[in-house]
Formats: sequence, structure tokens, C-alpha cells
Amino acid sequence: MALLDKTFYIETFGCQMNVHDSEKVIGTLLHEGYRRVDTEMEAGLILYNTCSIRDKAEQKVFNRLNDYKALHKKGKRFAVLGCVAQQEGEKIFERAPYVSLVSGSASYRKLPEMLAQLEAGTERITGLDDRQTEEAFETEFTARSNPHRGYITIIEGCDKFCAYCVVPYTRGKERSRTSSSVLAEARHMADAGYTDIQLLGQNVNSYKDPSGKMSFAELLTAVGQVHGIRRVRFTTSHPRDFTRDIVEAIENVPTLCDHVHLPVQSGSTDVLRRMQREYTREWYLERIAWIRAARRPISLTTDIIVGFPGENERDFEQTLALLEQVQYDAVFAFKYSPRPNTPAVSMEESVPEDVKTARLQQLLDYQREIQRANYLKHVGELVEVMVEGHNRARGQISGRSSQNMVVNFTTGAPILPALGSYLNVRITGAFPNSLLGEAVVWNAAAADRSRHPMDVPVKISVV
Ligand code: SAH
Ligand code: SF4
Ligand code: F3S
Repeated sequence: MALLDKTFYIETFGCQMNVHDSEKVIGTLLHEGYRRVDTEMEAGLILYNTCSIRDKAEQKVFNRLNDYKALHKKGKRFAVLGCVAQQEGEKIFERAPYVSLVSGSASYRKLPEMLAQLEAGTERITGLDDRQTEEAFETEFTARSNPHRGYITIIEGCDKFCAYCVVPYTRGKERSRTSSSVLAEARHMADAGYTDIQLLGQNVNSYKDPSGKMSFAELLTAVGQVHGIRRVRFTTSHPRDFTRDIVEAIENVPTLCDHVHLPVQSGSTDVLRRMQREYTREWYLERIAWIRAARRPISLTTDIIVGFPGENERDFEQTLALLEQVQYDAVFAFKYSPRPNTPAVSMEESVPEDVKTARLQQLLDYQREIQRANYLKHVGELVEVMVEGHNRARGQISGRSSQNMVVNFTTGAPILPALGSYLNVRITGAFPNSLLGEAVVWNAAAADRSRHPMDVPVKISVV
């Protein structure tokens, strides 16, 4: 059956790496003459870019495939991309025989050939690189979805093999891009009007420049100095590779955002050892102390897994005590989910589901109170906010501060500021997950996003 209808629908699950991969896949499809549509019903080709980090994430794609399988009879074709594709491989064809293409992220560079096979009517096409691949997916056709803020992948894959995690199997080994190619992309984005760049990697700070020119901190600095770029973020950092010069770079380069996401996973050294995280509670807290000692306040966020095999009440209390000690601004907490191929699936002393659920709830309640107090401390501050959305019904504008906090605010002016513009906002109220405020200067100059913070002395006057 030939694919005549060159329209596609894509849905993306999972992390920012997947979101950005989809932008590259979309760009490639558009370049190959496909047209994007908004629903499965309108599309000739339906693509799911999948995530396998927890069982629930994996199930989503099989639910979707099941919901829409009848469309296959109408000549529509299905493609499964991403981490479930790489993990399950050809088994997907057995479970969902109407799928035509299965490809892991390391094979997207072969997408044009795979599409040609699809168009020629081939029924089962696979792109499944093993962990040995050195290949990365770079394309000039990236179709970024936001015209102001964009991602750049600087390192792909993972060599850490934490005992619970699928990523080293689904994303292959660690491979970095050269600093010159990253910088060329950053400059290109700045020329196209982007002001906010997010550097991505499963472990972004494990970056190793293949040309040997720059360390991760030097690359951060260089991206932060690209003319026109006002904000640079990076995610996710691994504690094991978190070096002091990253903090120094944030201190020295105003465009580097005042925020570090540093997943700890557990506050118990025993659990960390069984997780194969290769650091102790004390090692982690030493890195936190570096960040807290910085010349400007840096907000901290983390990921936690509760109910890892063998986690007892004492271990869990150590995690709560760590939250108390670090005072994070956000915590992403998950119940441990056993994953295929990982060493933790065969570990003894699994924690019962009801205990996991209770611990997760206790942790979230505990953290909520920490955040409630911490967010309140920002009341009265003046923060720079990048406008990300308008809520016309409530007359509110929403954006994010350099510390990555959501700020909902009003301007007092009848015209809404443009998306992507930067405003100074006085914080007037706080909730556990967001701040409330009022813009203090709102005129054309203040909203001019082409200026660089290093050459604009910010003048403040209350309107
Ligand atoms: N490379 C990053 C994390 C990437 S995965 C790091 O090492 O910090 C994102 C988060 O998903 C992890 O930080 C972890 O908290 C969570 N996660 C990964 N595998 C999981 C599993 N099997 N069950 C529950 N949560 C998991
Ligand atoms: Fe997974 Fe660990 Fe690699 Fe993070 S460092 S992606 S948690 S294996
Ligand atoms: Fe999910 Fe793969 Fe990202 S498993 S979290 S989409 S790396």
C-alpha cells in the first residue's frame, strides 16, 4: 500500500530531549514535502515519539495505538519513535501489527530513507541502533515551536547506568557535539530572534567537547556571550559531574540563569549506593554548598524517587531531612517504577505500592510547605520576567523569572506585552508554585528584546 497522502500528525511524550527531537523530526518531514496537521483523523502518517522512563509513560503509546488502530484500515500509517521504540524494537510489530515504522532516536538521521521506504509501501521498517553508535542527529531543518526560546542538544545518551533507569539502553552511549557546532547553532538562533536558549543533555554537564576546545563551563560562558542571547539554561545536571566552575560561570555571566536542576534521587547514602548513583549524601551536599555560596542567589530544583527496593522508613526520613536542609524551589518526585533490562528489577525487598504512594504524598506535602515559605520570601523583589503567555480572561500575563519561577502579573496598561518580551515585575504575592506581581516599567524600551542585558542599564520607575 503506497502512502499517497503526505500529511502527518505527531504526538510527543517524555522529556525535553524528546520534545526537541520531535522538532527535528518535524523539520525533516517538512523538508521531505510533508504537511503537518492537528489531528490523527486528518493525517496520512501518524507518529508517536515515545518515553519509557516509567511504566505509565510506556503504556501511553500502546493506549494511543489501540485507540486509533482502526485508522489503519483507512490507509493511514503509524510510526513509533523514541525510547519505547528503541527498547521494544520489533516486538512493537507483534503487539501492534498495524505499525509500519519503529525507530530509536539514534537512527533519525536515516529518516529520509525510512520515509522513502514507507512511501514505496514497505510494511515493517526499523531504525534501531545499538549502544555502539557514535552517530548523533543534527539537522539544519529543525522546526522550533517557540520563536523566542529554543533548545540545543549538546550531548546525547548516558553512560551512568543507574540501577533503575532505561535511558542508557534507549538513548545509547554518551556522545557530545563539538563546541563550534553548538556555538554556530546558538549564533544562528540569535540571528533568527531567539533570546533564550536551553542546552540539553541527559546529563548536560557530562559534556566533553570532541575537539577538546572547551569544558562545559566554558561552553556555557561562550553561549551566554552570544550577542542577542539574554537567557541560557541547561538541564539536566548530574551531581557526579557537577564542578565548581559551573557556579563561577553563573556568577560571571549575567545571561546564565540563576537556576540549577540537580537531581538527588534519595537523601540516603545506602539507597544512593544501591541505585548506583556514585555519590553520597555528603558529596551531593558539598555541591549544594558551592551553589548556595554563589554571589547571586541561585534557585535549586531536584528529582526524587521514592520506594526504590530496600528503601526503609529511616532512608525515607533522610530524604525528607535533605529537602528541609536544601530548601528546593521545586521537586519532581516519582514512585519507583521497575523497568525492563535494568538491574533494579531483580533486586529484593521491593517496597509495596501502598507504601510508595503514602511516601510520595508525604514528601509532596512536606515540600509544598517548604515552597510556600520560600516563595513568600520573594514578595517585594523586582524580577525580570520573560513573557510566555496571556490569560485574557483574568487580564493576567504569565512568564518566568531567571530563577525559573512562574510569575503571573498585570501591567496596568490596556495593551498586552508581546510574547518573548522582557519586563521588570515587582512581586506582590506568592503561592507554593508561582509568584504574583505587577510590571513596573512598561514602555517600548523596557520591552525591547533585541537588547542585551549587559549593555542596558535597567532603569526602574514605578508607573
Ligand atoms: N539524567 C538525569 C535524569 C534523567 S531521567 C539524572 O540522572 O539526574 C528523569 C528522572 O526520572 C530521574 O531523575 C528520576 O528521578 C526519574 N526516573 C528515572 N527512572 C525511573 C524509574 N525507573 N522509576 C521512577 N522514576 C524514574
Ligand atoms: Fe538515567 Fe542515571 Fe543516566 Fe540519569 S544518569 S539518565 S538517571 S542512567
Ligand atoms: Fe523518556 Fe527517553 Fe526522555 S525514556 S525521559 S523520552 S530520554
